[in-house]
Amino acid sequence: MKEGIEIMQKKLLKGTLSILAAIILSACTGDSGGMNSSMMMDNEDNPDQGMDQDGMNEMMDHGEVPSLASSEGVNELVIPPLLEKQKGKNYDYEVTAQEGITEFFEGISTETYGYNGDLLGPTLKIEEGESVNVKITNDLNEPTTFHWHGLEVASKIDGGPSDEIQPGESRIITLEADQPAATLWYHPHVHEMTAEQVFRGLSGMLIIDNSINSDLEIPNEYGVNDIPLIFQDRLFDEDKQLDYDNLMNVDGTLGDVSMVNGTINPKMTVTEPIMRFRLLNGSNARNYTFRLSNGDNFTQIASDGSLLDEPVDRKELTLAASERAEILIDFSKLTEEESLSIINEEGVVLLPFDVKDTDSTAGSIKTWTTDEPFLTDEEKEMPVTKNIELFGMMDMVSINGKKFDADRIDLRQEQGVTEVWEIYNKPDMMGGMVHPFHIHGTQFKVISRDGEEVEESEQGFKDSVAVEPGERVKLLVTFPEKGVYVFHCHILEHEDNGMMGQIEVY
Ligand code: C2O
Ligand code: CU
Ligand code: CU
Repeated sequence: MKEGIEIMQKKLLKGTLSILAAIILSACTGDSGGMNSSMMMDNEDNPDQGMDQDGMNEMMDHGEVPSLASSEGVNELVIPPLLEKQKGKNYDYEVTAQEGITEFFEGISTETYGYNGDLLGPTLKIEEGESVNVKITNDLNEPTTFHWHGLEVASKIDGGPSDEIQPGESRIITLEADQPAATLWYHPHVHEMTAEQVFRGLSGMLIIDNSINSDLEIPNEYGVNDIPLIFQDRLFDEDKQLDYDNLMNVDGTLGDVSMVNGTINPKMTVTEPIMRFRLLNGSNARNYTFRLSNGDNFTQIASDGSLLDEPVDRKELTLAASERAEILIDFSKLTEEESLSIINEEGVVLLPFDVKDTDSTAGSIKTWTTDEPFLTDEEKEMPVTKNIELFGMMDMVSINGKKFDADRIDLRQEQGVTEVWEIYNKPDMMGGMVHPFHIHGTQFKVISRDGEEVEESEQGFKDSVAVEPGERVKLLVTFPEKGVYVFHCHILEHEDNGMMGQIEVY
């Protein structure tokens, strides 16, 4: 009963906040600001009451991000196992979404979701050019989908919101890795349930490998000197559960607990001089700026969808939700006494390293360059043919003034034909917020930000791009396959609230 009342109060508060959000969004622009009356109306929770002080405070706090607790380095980092090939079956790999129990806190069982296990999933590694059959099974008590984020596949196996697998159902799909070596990932994509399923633990890495890794002498031994790092923040309730309905924030659920590969308070023992880390921001909403605790540079070698034209030395690197980057860290010059950690913009220790007998004479970071520029002059000068306007906050989010409708096609583009998309993040009266914009079925190039050439770190293929309030980002977009794909904000609560559209590739 008490719980019922609390939920009621929560709903009332949410409704009140929505009204205030609506005022903020419309007042600032002097027009309907991408909102329409149906968006105002479709919130059944709107209570007929004024704003209370608490609600007002929460609203004014909008945009304030809770700090993460620093890792105390208690637990050895879990490295997701490589998904093993099946033998004697009519499929190569099997991925099952299931319920599980994880002991994040000593002696406490937390209910979680995972693929083939209790939490997160194994890493699926495919060679460039390889095609594999994957049996996907839903052992959850609710529908799910299997989305291969960043993989340029036919829309019918993309696992978007129209591709639900019901509880108990299985399907065998063929994934083709017809694109360069990259760090991709997989996660569910059921409309209005994506945020919750990811929050509870459904995510895994998908690596496309090819010979370029050995040609360029990039560390490539999975689990030894080639390590996936999935960064996520989580909020637990008093019972240390991930009770999404009660913990969620419509503007993007943020937590104060940092997890790397599902490990809380992690540390990583390093025995190799040069390590490659595949960073994934797998959070629902949080942005991370990664730095090294000693202020040294690290080397970025890849963006979301490919290696960079040449490695770039960086002091810091920001990833919005769903973005990836690959970096190399040189441990060879560290003495046993020196400590090194990956920290965030606030100096919070995300992953401390315990460096053990690395061979200080072995290896150094090799560099490479390509002759051709990543973007040709011709590509830079192509006219914009598609305009995307991101707007809103909380559940009042929209793309081009509309919310997602599975029965509506918002854009059309011809297969194999390159177009320039301009993504505009329209600010509101409170400034607005960063929206990470993602397109399915393609790896694009970022042409410019507000007309300026992008940094070297973005001169690689990408599938997600963080757009600052007021910013205009131009993308060069080509779809290799036909079908209907979604594009959306990758703050998962925004996506679930309809900040998503559909493109038909014909
Ligand atoms: Cu990470 Cu629509 O996806
Ligand atoms: Cu995706
Ligand atoms: Cu958003």
